[in-house]
Amino acid sequence: MEKIRLSRGEWSYDPNDQIGRSGGFGAVFAGKAESHGPLAIKRLHVSAHDAAHRELRLAEDLAGKELSHVIPILDAGQDANSNQYFVVMPRADKSLQDELEQSGRLDDDGAAEILVQIARGLAEVPHIVHRDLKPANVLLHDNVWKIADFGIARFVEESTSLNTLKRCLTATYAAPEQWRMERATPATDLYALGCIGYALLTGQPPFQGPELSDFGTASARNSTATRRQSATTSVANYNAAEKTSAV
Ligand SMILES: Nc1ncnc2c1ncn2[C@@H]1O[C@H](COP(=O)(O)OP(=O)(O)O)[C@@H](O)[C@H]1O
Ligand SMILES: [Mg+2]
Repeated sequence: MEKIRLSRGEWSYDPNDQIGRSGGFGAVFAGKAESHGPLAIKRLHVSAHDAAHRELRLAEDLAGKELSHVIPILDAGQDANSNQYFVVMPRADKSLQDELEQSGRLDDDGAAEILVQIARGLAEVPHIVHRDLKPANVLLHDNVWKIADFGIARFVEESTSLNTLKRCLTATYAAPEQWRMERATPATDLYALGCIGYALLTGQPPFQGPELSDFGTASARNSTATRRQSATTSVANYNAAEKTSAV
């Protein structure tokens, strides 16, 4: 176990017990701390040199808010000993990516219910563009689907160059403006939500490469309007059913 000290406390993580594959921005390890359940501790790839004088303000941005569809951040920042950056979260049961790999595709109601939960998460943090919304960043925690990694892409973007950020992004869910290296807006997250809807309903994301450059051209050329339409219709049906069952 490695001990780290961040602004809110001391935490331990096991560098030999990595959760999932390394993502674009870091690697996640099993962790623990006194009076907490199982933790997931993310070690960011950002070098202390690049991020000098930048605070990882996630905890301040997200802590203390009543967020039902966003994974809570217990602590975040630079460890005084190693100088590396960490984000401490409760450990979730599984990701939506795991769910997709297990089930192949979901039925309309199941997909719509998850999309509504992700949309609620986005609505809970309107002041931060996520920038890297994708099934691996949607986690089942306390039986609720919640968005993880809010603000991490922004921190990396501020700490490095847009070029670096582009290399870190998940090609499959990146919006055209991200390929054009323009700043992300809230529409960037809605684009990713549309791609997630497509993946949940069909079992495959809308754009599949295989080359990195294929994603950029395909997503810039093809309108996802019809695909989003299908997801939107499912969500609308779901909302109608929810309302009907409530009366
Ligand atoms: N709080 C958490 N609880 C459980 N698993 C997590 C948690 N945070 C991230 N993971 C999983 O750890 C793996 C690595 O996550 P991450 O570094 O964010 O990469 P990415 O999201 O790009 O796959 C992913 O499989 C992700 O679903
Ligand atoms: Mg992630």
